[in-house]
Amino acid sequence: MRLRNITLPMIAVAAAIFSGPVWAEGDAAKGERIFKKCKACHNLDKNKHKVGPSLVGLIGRTAGTGKDAKSKLYRYSRAMKKAGGDGIVWTPENLDKFLIKPKKFIPKTKMTFPGLKKPVDRADVIAYLRSQVN
Ligand code: HEC
Repeated sequence: MRLRNITLPMIAVAAAIFSGPVWAEGDAAKGERIFKKCKACHNLDKNKHKVGPSLVGLIGRTAGTGKDAKSKLYRYSRAMKKAGGDGIVWTPENLDKFLIKPKKFIPKTKMTFPGLKKPVDRADVIAYLRSQVN
């Protein structure tokens, strides 16, 4: 019994440490390949909106506030504008939550992308987005 009392909390602590954010270990080179899925709707190299907003300068930006090179705001859904108004900022943590299933994190978003189910894919694409600080 004594042993059990000691090991269980230790396992809990170890689990808490190792289940930390996966994005920290993402591989940007692999992420670039995953980003091909996003490219149909998003630019990251040119600051131009497509079907979706330009993702230039995404990290640290408030949701629903992306402007193109001509300072033109993308035409966001009400849902995305509200998310920004509620204080959602595109940190790696929030991107991870959004990209797993966009319509779950932001109900009624007009981003019709089912999401990236694999944690490693999200980590890699987020690493790529972070590597493109522009
Ligand atoms: C089929 C088109 C499509 C695909 C594919 C797509 N998106 Fe989007 N994305 C959109 C649209 C449209 C919006 C605007 C959503 C809104 O206003 O509700 C958006 C919004 C976003 C936003 C919010 C940006 C902001 O300025 O607030 C992020 C972040 C994003 N997409 C990332 C991605 C990533 C990363 C991928 C690939 C894994 C991806 N998207 C794939 C269409 C797409």
